[in-house]
Amino acid sequence: MKGAENQILVIFGASGDLTKRKLIPALYSLEIQGLLPEKFAIIGVSRSPMTDDLFRESLKTGVNEFSDEKNQERINEFLQKVYYQSIDAQDADSFIDLKEKLAGLQNSLNIPANTIFYLSTPPSLYGIIPQHLAKIDLNDQSAGWKRIIIEKPFGYDLQSAIELNSSLQKDWLESQIYRIDHYLGKETVQNVLVTRFTNGIFEPLWNRNFVHHVEITSAESLGVEKRGGYYEGSGALRDMIQNHLLQIVGLMAMEPPASMHSDAIRNETVKVLQSIRAYTPEEITRSAIRGQYVASTIKGEKIKGYREEVGVNPDSKTETYAALKFYIDNWRWGGVPFYIRTGKKLPTRVTEAVIHFKPTPHYLFANKSNGETHNQLVIRIQPDEGILLKFGMKTPGAGFEVQTVNMDFHYSDLSIARIPEAYERLLLDCMTGDSTLYARADAVLAAWNFLDPVLNEWKNNPCIPVYGYPAGTWGPERADDLIEEPSMTWRYPCKNLSDDGIYCEL
Ligand code: BG6
Repeated sequence: MKGAENQILVIFGASGDLTKRKLIPALYSLEIQGLLPEKFAIIGVSRSPMTDDLFRESLKTGVNEFSDEKNQERINEFLQKVYYQSIDAQDADSFIDLKEKLAGLQNSLNIPANTIFYLSTPPSLYGIIPQHLAKIDLNDQSAGWKRIIIEKPFGYDLQSAIELNSSLQKDWLESQIYRIDHYLGKETVQNVLVTRFTNGIFEPLWNRNFVHHVEITSAESLGVEKRGGYYEGSGALRDMIQNHLLQIVGLMAMEPPASMHSDAIRNETVKVLQSIRAYTPEEITRSAIRGQYVASTIKGEKIKGYREEVGVNPDSKTETYAALKFYIDNWRWGGVPFYIRTGKKLPTRVTEAVIHFKPTPHYLFANKSNGETHNQLVIRIQPDEGILLKFGMKTPGAGFEVQTVNMDFHYSDLSIARIPEAYERLLLDCMTGDSTLYARADAVLAAWNFLDPVLNEWKNNPCIPVYGYPAGTWGPERADDLIEEPSMTWRYPCKNLSDDGIYCEL
């Protein structure tokens, strides 16, 4: 792997949660592993005035809480690389202060003008900050490269994503823009590529001739917690499906890339997203299910419904659960349904992608295993990262009874068991100029293009129900009907937790 050149990382939104919980701990972890450049500094940028020392102090609890290595001396030493600059992001003039701070540090620490600008701010600033930077030539690459990282959500719908792209591309080259999707930084998401393209046994079966359907689930046991205000304007489709889940679909369904070059891989994922069959309004009603968690009781404890969360409208129709069935119209996947679902307040936290292989054409044996007559390859993305292959085996004893058993690999069994945090990998990649695991403009637009009609239909068609599901259950029962094959269902890695069985239409 290429080492990172000496550089400065500027984080806008420095007083926010992401900086404290993810970015700074990830950078500290890179420091511990000796992966940061020899000469490196971080400038946190936010509105409120603060000294460098006060900012360092404010980061300490986060590093202690979210890092494995808690050596106070090393933490203090690392935090000496962190500086602070207050600016008003709306005010072009205040960017001059940032330029001066950067120049001062580049001089005193002898760091070239290589700079990353990380936008971890409210999305309303994603357009304006890059413009203000460009106005004072902080996009200029003549003396050192400049890169800009944009957090999700990238746009609110297709139109706003197009506008954001064109506003960015006025001043920045596509090769300078890194659209982050932290799921692509997850070790097990990258392992989809390795599983598929390093093992000769899977790829010949990875197509419409052998695959019955593909299922991708990202379930969370938490609700919206303190993010009700943000989530109200977002919902599960925008928050999880437009980015994380569709990126996984891209990797699961893509053709083998010509090389591991960033554009070779991203060319293949974008083709998948562009090949997803567009929904008609009737199909949206049938194939896109939305739900919202309602209050329930789990082990005697009352759990709040979404509408009772802080910052949420008591009549909200925002979906906290979404399940879609769709097709990818290409030679590999023609006719194979893809099912994806995500939800908050489900019984457990699990993200997995499952290839359900076709059953044998003629079933010879008596079956003992919950009616399962087909093989499944389960790629467990989190937690308990690993891969599981389910296959039928003769139950010992008389006759020919078959039961399904597991061949199961857990990452935790590896001698190097630490799985790096997604942000570690992604920050390091940007520092070394590798954009493979960042979303390219065309992929982001293709994802919005597919989902835009669903967003519009859900917004404008009052006949499409929002199904209520009790917190702690696997979402609306109606989502089960998406899988039309009577012998098949979604995979349920654990049972419903809630004692309530009230499913309703909100
Ligand atoms: C974020 C979403 O992008 O991903 C959150 O905004 C969600 O709502 C989170 O909880 C899930 O990420 P992870 O890594 O915990 O699966």
